[in-house]
Amino acid sequence: MTRILLINGPNLGRLGHRQPQVYGHTTLAEVVARATEHAHRRGATLEHLQSNHEGSLIDRIEQLDYDGVVINPGALGHTSYALRDALEGVERPAVEVHISDVHRREPFRHQLVLEDVVVGQVIGRGVDGYVEAIDMLLDHLERQR
Ligand code: DQA
Repeated sequence: MTRILLINGPNLGRLGHRQPQVYGHTTLAEVVARATEHAHRRGATLEHLQSNHEGSLIDRIEQLDYDGVVINPGALGHTSYALRDALEGVERPAVEVHISDVHRREPFRHQLVLEDVVVGQVIGRGVDGYVEAIDMLLDHLERQR
């Protein structure tokens, strides 16, 4: 079975409560439940980690007990070359998600440093973006086989 690792970075633990006008009212637990259900429907397993700590995300990525990654890096997506290098180094496909349309927000959000090491991005699709990202990742893995 294909194993998906779903990662949510800093501040996403408060999804549903944090700036609902930007990120919506769906909680992270609901997002993870939907994503897990969707993965199962497509014959894959899903494990989830949310952390506010860059190093914890990198430690998890280094474990290599998965076939591909869906990651919402939060603000680390604009700044973290360390996270970028981790994803590049493990040679597993990753799809990046941003719930909000970062390109229409503050200029500092326009730079996405993971961009050239991920196989796809889903940006500004709300929390539905996680399901789209799972599909993108699984389609990519199927094409690779
Ligand atoms: C986010 C966008 C980032 O700019 C922000 O720092 C987040 C959430 C999104 O999902 O839209 O924490 O990644």
